[in-house]
Amino acid sequence: MNLQRIVVIGAGTMGSGIAQWFAQQMCYVELVDNSEDQLKRSVQSIHSSWDKLVEKGKLTSCQVGQMKQFLSTCTLEKANPKSDLVIEAIIEDLEIKKTLFKKLDSLFDKKTILSSNTSSFPITLLSEAVSDERKPNFIGLHFFNPATIMLLVEVIKGLRTDATLCESLYQWFELKGKKPALCKDSPGFIVNRVARNFYGEPLRIVDNDDEQKFKEVDTILKEVGGFKMGPFELMDLIGIDINYSVTHSVWEAFNQEPRFAPHHLQKLMVDSKRFGRKSKKGFYPYD
Ligand code: NAI
Repeated sequence: MNLQRIVVIGAGTMGSGIAQWFAQQMCYVELVDNSEDQLKRSVQSIHSSWDKLVEKGKLTSCQVGQMKQFLSTCTLEKANPKSDLVIEAIIEDLEIKKTLFKKLDSLFDKKTILSSNTSSFPITLLSEAVSDERKPNFIGLHFFNPATIMLLVEVIKGLRTDATLCESLYQWFELKGKKPALCKDSPGFIVNRVARNFYGEPLRIVDNDDEQKFKEVDTILKEVGGFKMGPFELMDLIGIDINYSVTHSVWEAFNQEPRFAPHHLQKLMVDSKRFGRKSKKGFYPYD
């Protein structure tokens, strides 16, 4: 497998990190978003992250110069229709994702691999939006936040995904230093299914908008449990809106099993636009 031309759709938290990682692998990356401002912010933040790596001596300015050449932005209609791989990383909304995939199916060559970074929707369900001819080339590629640092990539086979494609992508990511995992197309795949309780139980324990208590639980899980981040810090990093959507869809997929139930505090925070770090206020303030 030779992945050279990549299109990343959605320049938010995940799309930016994914685009940065692919450009670091010297792949040509076209980054797309329906918000011009977000695209500008994303490229600025990727460039500034590379510049900091030069300052720290982790990359040379020559390497970063090349990476910057590999990253560009465009509209969906202007993206290279013969790209090798398209990664969708837009908001976690089933209907919006399906509408986008229908469009992608018509815009891109049938050999182009279409993939979703969804945290929770079944790949088989998303693939209903594309033609039968495309289905073998439709796959789940679930990166973790921050995508440039986290090694795991879940490679998810939908019912109609070509098994050879899964294997080839697995090997390609391994070659590039990631730690891929082949996953079944089941709700939340591996990590997001296990992680539901990492967020849900602390929310049920605190049960209130109480920063001191968030801190207490985070500290215990870090100092005693050995986790790198506590659940409230992690939800703030992920984005409370995204985390809530994922919780909701996994809960629905498990026929509303109580152990996966969303917490009322998550909804209140989404309604009041406290999305976490990206909105400068979540469980904690970020000034
Ligand atoms: P985000 O809210 O940070 O970014 C989403 C971006 O998509 C925004 O820039 C928005 O303008 C853009 N967008 C929305 N609709 C669009 C459309 N139709 N066409 C083009 N651009 C569009 O979201 P985030 O956190 O990056 O999540 C993206 C996907 O990645 C979701 O499916 C989420 O479940 C998944 N994910 C999120 C993780 C996280 O830690 N935040 C971790 C792993 C997966």
